[in-house]
Amino acid sequence: MYYPDEILEQVRAGNDIVDVVGSYVHLKKQGANYFGLCPFHNEKSPSFSVSADKQIFYCFGCGAGGNVITFLMKYENYSFQEAVKALAERAGIRLPEAEYGEEAKKREQHRRELFDINREAATYYYRMLRSPRGAAGMRYLEGRGLTAETIHRFGLGFADGSGSDLVAFLRKKGFPDDSILESGVAAYDEKRGLHDKFWNRVMFPIMDVNSRVIGFGGRVMGDGKPKYLNSPETPIFDKGRNLYGLHLAKRSRTEQFILCEGYMDVIAMHQAGFPQAVASLGTAFTSGQASILKRYAKEILLSYDSDEAGMRAALRNNGILREAALRSRVLDLRPYKDPDEFMKNLGADEFRKRIDAAENSFFYELRMLERNFAMDDPAGRTDFCREAAKRLGVFEDEIERDNYIEAVAARYFIDKGSLRRMVGSYTEAGELIRAPERPKPAAPRKKEGGITPETRAQAWLLTWMAEDRAVFAQVSRYIRPEDFAEGIPRTVAERFYADPKPGSIAAIISVFPEESEQNRAATLFNSRFELPEGRENQEKALHDVVLSVKQSSGRRRAAELAGDPNALQEIIRSKKELEELKTAVFCIDTEKGREQDG
Ligand code: UTP
Ligand code: MN
Repeated sequence: MYYPDEILEQVRAGNDIVDVVGSYVHLKKQGANYFGLCPFHNEKSPSFSVSADKQIFYCFGCGAGGNVITFLMKYENYSFQEAVKALAERAGIRLPEAEYGEEAKKREQHRRELFDINREAATYYYRMLRSPRGAAGMRYLEGRGLTAETIHRFGLGFADGSGSDLVAFLRKKGFPDDSILESGVAAYDEKRGLHDKFWNRVMFPIMDVNSRVIGFGGRVMGDGKPKYLNSPETPIFDKGRNLYGLHLAKRSRTEQFILCEGYMDVIAMHQAGFPQAVASLGTAFTSGQASILKRYAKEILLSYDSDEAGMRAALRNNGILREAALRSRVLDLRPYKDPDEFMKNLGADEFRKRIDAAENSFFYELRMLERNFAMDDPAGRTDFCREAAKRLGVFEDEIERDNYIEAVAARYFIDKGSLRRMVGSYTEAGELIRAPERPKPAAPRKKEGGITPETRAQAWLLTWMAEDRAVFAQVSRYIRPEDFAEGIPRTVAERFYADPKPGSIAAIISVFPEESEQNRAATLFNSRFELPEGRENQEKALHDVVLSVKQSSGRRRAAELAGDPNALQEIIRSKKELEELKTAVFCIDTEKGREQDG
């Protein structure tokens, strides 16, 4: 792989997974494991587990799993290389030069090149803004009320109108044309060849959570079209998983973030003393962005434009935030159009008052809903009440639902008892609806890749063997790595048999380069099974699962050998083994036995 195994082992050993994950996710000890809310999918009750023994994490909800390196790759959007570096640094380990495999090397280099090009381009625009050629841009930004400090903090820049100067600059730095093109700062056509994508625009570098430039938004000065031109998505720029201003907001030490529509809104807010403001990136807010916000904030204040489009976006995004179990409220900025204008006219103190007065997102939804009904007509009101009752069903927590029922009844002068009954009837009929604009939930992640009873038994057995050394000692007399299905289970078993202790599992995960494979490998050590009560029953359960793994292995082998005259001996031998196994007795020491983790 990329680093010698000893180094990887050192890096893993120097970074206890419970500590590392614990610095990102609130974990609670429960039995042998730690549990918390999964940072990789939206959930309300914890199904994300971290094992100190095995040094791996696993989510029973979405199937994400791996070791400490995998975790950092997924969480920080790091490559393998970057994750190892960060962990080495954390543990004070000096890394040797990495040895790359060919393909990994290319991928890694390519990513780094795209980061480098974006950084160089940002520097180029930044300098241009401060040069005579950038005078118009500087005038524009100052005209919009930005201070020199703000312009600096956001790294703003300027692209003037001269064809392919940036491309020439980047070529001179040694970047190849195809990378310059892919980075998104250049475009290509027959007539002009490779040329600058942005011109005559003030430039907003977009940074990831680690303050690396990953793309740009460029605003035309004046009324040209499009108003904002944005970098395309690239291997380092995922618009659904980054937020403008997040690298600053994450340090704001507040549990209440402000979600705005635009770059200028975020900048104006930061300048006015609200560094917790972020925005999506010229694209609709996504559930991926919601789960990222959830790492930092408990509540989101929606600070959208006061027009129809802004209201629709607020409704839609409330739904997404609720799915992510994030509370949200909606700010009313009228009579001003957006946070930027509001700040200019009324200032930070007034804005703070608007924050205090921000409307609970559920009531905001109902108020929007009212507009569809003739509220002064009894029939219209009744229809409205029905609709409201259906929506009240979204609150799964009974106390919360009850509180809302009470509040809605009071606000709309409905009898509490009737409303509660109506909500009840919808909940029972399974007719609950959520917000009308509720987005389709993200396609469920592929879980454990086609679980069959067969793979389940294998996972059971591996998990059990990993957790109880005595079980491994007995089982390994009958079950060998070849008895596991070909592919990931077999590779995992081979490695585990070579070094059968929980501490080796984290290393086994690293054998697989692909994230999806790491997830599946982690699954094999995190099978959740209920042990029956009592020693005898447990011994029988173990016997059954060993037998079932052996039987399916025998069936697989028989199918492979069908028609092979030389296979007779093997078949006879395996039949004999199976007979032996049927009468074998397994012993489980229930005294020290496997700690149940519910
Ligand atoms: P707005 O049109 O509300 O921009 O679009 P704004 O923030 O008020 O901009 P100013 O104040 O006129 O400069 C909000 C966001 O939508 C995206 C941008 O991310 C912008 O910040 N957008 C808008 C585009 O990507 N392209 C466009 O042409 C317009
Ligand atoms: Mn706006």
